Amino acid sequence: MSDEPEVPNLDPQSLRIAAANALIRRRRTIKPKDMSDKPVEPIQLATILENANWAPTHGMTEPWRFFIFSGEGRERLGNFCQSLYSKITPETEVRADKFEKLGAQPMMAPIVIAVGMKRQDIEKIPEIEEIEAVACAVQNMHLTASAMGMAAFWSTPPISYTDEMRAWLGLEDPRDKCLGFFYLGWPKEEEWPEGTRGDVSDKIVQVPS
Ligand SMILES: Cc1cc2nc3c(=O)[nH]c(=O)nc-3n(C[C@H](O)[C@H](O)[C@H](O)COP(=O)(O)O)c2cc1C
Repeated sequence: MSDEPEVPNLDPQSLRIAAANALIRRRRTIKPKDMSDKPVEPIQLATILENANWAPTHGMTEPWRFFIFSGEGRERLGNFCQSLYSKITPETEVRADKFEKLGAQPMMAPIVIAVGMKRQDIEKIPEIEEIEAVACAVQNMHLTASAMGMAAFWSTPPISYTDEMRAWLGLEDPRDKCLGFFYLGWPKEEEWPEGTRGDVSDKIVQVPS
């Protein structure tokens, strides 16, 4: 046994790996109710969207589309979400708290990004892979936001997946999709939240060689 203290690996590669591990494991969902009213600067939004655009894409279709709501646009979005909820929910299942939240939530984040998937005309790439690519783009946005200390939340209420929402966003082709809303802002709390996950070993199968 040596008495030498354990020294952290400070070579560039170890530092890069440590940074990637920390960013991926400390990315957190922080919901609009926990966001402050501090604005998102254009350069921060531009960086987040640029990184989204670097998601992997089978066949280079780049199917992600982003619709940016800020200011009063968020109110129009909230109003539309409420009217759509009333329209598609059977009367006996309508919940006042859900209706309320759909209208109020967009106003609690400085930026709301509706996430779209644009279907490739020739449909060479399977639809599921286009959805997967958009999910990768959202993860890029979320990681970038966390790296900047920003609060972010991917929300997918059932109204997201309706034809009405798709068309309202301007996704004209019925094969396109809205894949929910990415809320972006700054955390109210000074303390960054902790996450939890089950053990990865429960999700791994070592296939016999
Ligand atoms: C595709 C997708 C859709 C999601 N939709 C919702 C949602 O509608 N409502 C919600 O509360 N959280 C939603 N989440 C966020 C999860 O609740 C969140 O990722 C989870 O609680 C783990 O927290 P973390 O992101 O901080 O690790 C969604 C996440 C993904 C990947």
